[in-house]
Parts: sequence; C-alpha cells; structure tokens
Amino acid sequence: MSSAATEFVVALVPAAGRGVRLGESTPKAFVPVAGIPMIRRAVDGLLASGAVHRVVVVVPAELVELAATLLPDGVQVIVGGAERLDSVRAGIDAAPDADLYLVHDAARALTPPALIARVVSELRNGRSGVVPALPVTDTIKSVDSAGRVTGTPARADLRAIQTPQGFAADVLRRAYDGVVEGDLATDDAGLVERLGEQVATIVGDPLAFKITTPLDLTLANALAREEG
Ligand code: C5P
Repeated sequence: MSSAATEFVVALVPAAGRGVRLGESTPKAFVPVAGIPMIRRAVDGLLASGAVHRVVVVVPAELVELAATLLPDGVQVIVGGAERLDSVRAGIDAAPDADLYLVHDAARALTPPALIARVVSELRNGRSGVVPALPVTDTIKSVDSAGRVTGTPARADLRAIQTPQGFAADVLRRAYDGVVEGDLATDDAGLVERLGEQVATIVGDPLAFKITTPLDLTLANALAREEG
C-alpha cells in the first residue's frame, strides 16, 4: 500500500436495490428527500467530507442515464446486480486503483460528512476495517422459523452498524473473493470478519440512519426541511 498522504480513497455507493419496503414506485435511491434524491444527498455528503477522491455509484441498468444527470460531474455510474453483494463487487471491480474503500448505502442519505471523514481518518491510522456503531435501544432476540424465541443476547454487547464502512482495499477484495452464490451477508464488514481481520467500531451518528420504511422517509423529510 502507498503512504498515508497518497492513499487513494474510493467510495462505492450501492444504490441498485428496489426498496420494496419503502412502498414507493421508484427504486429507493431515487426517491427524493425534501426535493433532492437520496442518491444525490448521499454522494454530496461523501464529497463534502473532503476525505474521498472518487465516487462510484451502482444503480439498476435502466437508471444509469438518469443517475448520471442527477449526480455531480466526475462521479462514475455503473450497473449493479441482483443482490447487494453483486452491486458492491461491481463497484470494487470498477475501481481497482483504490487503496482504501468506503462502502456507503445511498439509503443513508443524511449521513453527516464529519462521520465519513472520521471513518477515513481511522483507516489512515492503519485500521483494516472501520464501521460506525450505535448502542441498540430495543432488546434483540433471535427466533426460529416458527417465530419461537431461541435466544436473547445481552443488549449491552450489541451495536447497530451504519455506513460508510471503510476497509483497506486489499482486505475488502479478499473478502469478496470468498463470497459464494447465495451468500446471505448483509454488510461488508461481516465478510471481512470471516477472514479473521479485525473490524473496529467508531461512534456512529443517529443522522446516518437507513431510510427503509415510510416512517423513516417521513423523518428524513422533516429533518432535511429543518436543515435547509
Ligand atoms: O436492502 P438494503 O436496505 O440492505 O440495501 C442497502 C443498500 O444496498 C441500498 O442503498 C440499496 O440500493 C443497495 N442495493 C444494491 N443492489 C441490490 C440490492 C441493494 O445496490 N441488488
């Protein structure tokens, strides 16, 4: 890897999901929050962090042209895959020159730039994997397929994980080399953990919440209107 001052930081923005839980007709990343599409807000946040050299946005095939019109010049738009893992892999392949990768969900459209900069700063300090984390407020239980409770992990040990998730590029590439068809991993850090690599947490930000349900969208609209 090159020296810290010259490390090339590429942000991958998976935005190729259909977002069925949001109940909108448009794919989620293209739904506006206070008039500005989530995808644009997420990319603007990455650029405003001052910590990212290049942004690659991954969208459904039929929305590549639209995405290009919505995003600032210089942002690369590529076609995603059926699963989130396929979309992130396409992003990794499109940016083989990265020294550090951030993977940031378009759905976390209000993520503060300062949080993004903190993730990159931790990577520059030599960490191989960094994720923002918040304590959970609900008690979390595991259940079986019939809905019967099978366990109650101690809440104090649990964290809700946000994005951007940051990785040394070679570590993320190796993690994706190990992905097999039908893999159920829901985040990138989980793949890196499988390699036995240490993933560090930093304190996340409530504003980096994932806009998933209509209630989340109502909250995001209210927050964005208040701010701007
Ligand atoms: O489904 P989930 O909310 O976990 O999706 C997280 C992010 O991954 C979203 O920004 C979504 O657009 C993206 N995604 C993707 N390609 C898919 C599925 C999801 O880029 N096939």
